Amino acid sequence: MSENGFSGFPIPDSGFPIPKHEPMNQRETILVLDFGSQYTQLIARRVRELGVYCEILPYTASADRVKNAKGLILSGGPASVCQDGSPSLDEKILALGIPILGICYGMQLLAKLLGGSVERHDNREYGPATLVIDQPDDLFHGLIERQPVWMSHGDRVGALPRGFVYLAHTADCQAAAMADGRRKIFGVQFHPEVVHTPEGKEILSNFLFRISDCHGGWTMANFIQESVEKIRQTVGKGKVIVGLSGGVDSSVTAALVGRAIGDQMHAVFVDNGVLRADESQEIREMFRKEYPLNLTISDAATLFLEALAGVTDPEQKRKIIGKTFIDVFATEAAKIGKIDFLAQGTLYPDVIESVSVRGPSATIKSHHNVGGLPEKLGFKLIEPLRELFKDEVRRLGAELGIPARLLNRQPFPGPGLAVRIVGEITEPRLAVLRAADTVVQQELEAWEGYWEIWQSFAVLLPVKSVGVMGDERTYANAIALRVVTSLDGMTADWARLPHELLAKISSRIINEVKGVNRVVYDISSKPPSTIEWE
Ligand code: XMP
Repeated sequence: MSENGFSGFPIPDSGFPIPKHEPMNQRETILVLDFGSQYTQLIARRVRELGVYCEILPYTASADRVKNAKGLILSGGPASVCQDGSPSLDEKILALGIPILGICYGMQLLAKLLGGSVERHDNREYGPATLVIDQPDDLFHGLIERQPVWMSHGDRVGALPRGFVYLAHTADCQAAAMADGRRKIFGVQFHPEVVHTPEGKEILSNFLFRISDCHGGWTMANFIQESVEKIRQTVGKGKVIVGLSGGVDSSVTAALVGRAIGDQMHAVFVDNGVLRADESQEIREMFRKEYPLNLTISDAATLFLEALAGVTDPEQKRKIIGKTFIDVFATEAAKIGKIDFLAQGTLYPDVIESVSVRGPSATIKSHHNVGGLPEKLGFKLIEPLRELFKDEVRRLGAELGIPARLLNRQPFPGPGLAVRIVGEITEPRLAVLRAADTVVQQELEAWEGYWEIWQSFAVLLPVKSVGVMGDERTYANAIALRVVTSLDGMTADWARLPHELLAKISSRIINEVKGVNRVVYDISSKPPSTIEWE
């Protein structure tokens, strides 16, 4: 890069002073300002995959909040900058001298704020397009002239702001990319963060390493080192308790905290009676054998099932399970002695203050069954995964030596089978569901497409129907099969399973599970349905 910030082609002088940017923070960070795009999280993940720590902030973030970032990315968004009151940013940010990359709405906003024009189009350009690179410099360094890119926009930039040049065009869009190299402000109309832009990662890499002066090196090994030190500092000689659920997040939390403070940590696993077949046994063995910790397994099935007797309302079930869990956990904690901290596996998507990531499921069902614990028990909270996305947690787990089988487990809801039995929970109904669910798991795990599946399970319906087995009429339970693909559980689609696989699952359940004579396949997407039936 040349001294004035951009190399290789004539630079129109905007006449604006070039602010000097000197980030002060220790860990190099790229910030994404979120304007509501469905791809905002993807931008952050791509940046992290390139080895640079990245956080998402709402578009309302102040200049003071962002001033230490190495670079800033403005996400796309559903609004139009031409509308009154559309989302904007703290204009002082533009004077900080931080390199900026605006994507789609972010680009249009830059054009508007810096004195260019944005043309309103009611027809969206959506789908693949061919980008023709006019200026193969910093942002497009190393790319060949023609590139497939993914477009999804209505409005587009008309006249460029003073100081900007065109970097690339498509057949429909003259300003497919623009830049003011002196001020290191860039805009792209297409989405470099999606897989349909094959060289998108290269473009983001250029923004990070050629334009924003990042060095990279944010790896899981570094993360472990930083976290271990932080946990040791925070905990001192205190004691930590962690609730193990058998899922990925709590297991990785336990392993990480265990790595930091060893014996000062105690893990508690509560068997709530609504687990899948053999689950409690598997967890017992896995942790005792493969990852030894101070582990207490509390068999509280009877207590939970008594509390759930006669209850059919889904939210009521969740509340009872949540409350009983807290009681049991508190009792176990009291047995351990004085405890100072509770370690929880909260992930980044739960803490992002973003305008676009709060899907409807966050409020439709009351999810967090350990919510309330720290306040009630007076524990301080440590959340060592709160900066990580799910796939990063899996990588962290692998680095910590957790077996792949555990790390690749499908999500399983805290209220367990209780929200997969529509209606009352009784031992016999649990037995039917467990047996059917075992068949589903066995068949899906043996299927080559298993890794594409987000969740696969059986649901026991509150209906009986007529069937015929041998020469006899039956009147028995119906099982719904729910198999979905999803990226994050916020939206989901039903999996297009091969008919032979569906046939096998259905015939095995009906033949092997006593009390079931009908299997149906749930072909609803989320939204409008949810993944779980309750
Ligand atoms: P829904 O059914 O809302 O589920 O589409 C989205 C994701 O959340 C899981 N889920 C829960 N997890 N407690 C949990 O810990 C709950 O009460 C709960 N309800 C749903 C569900 O399995 C899916 O992965």
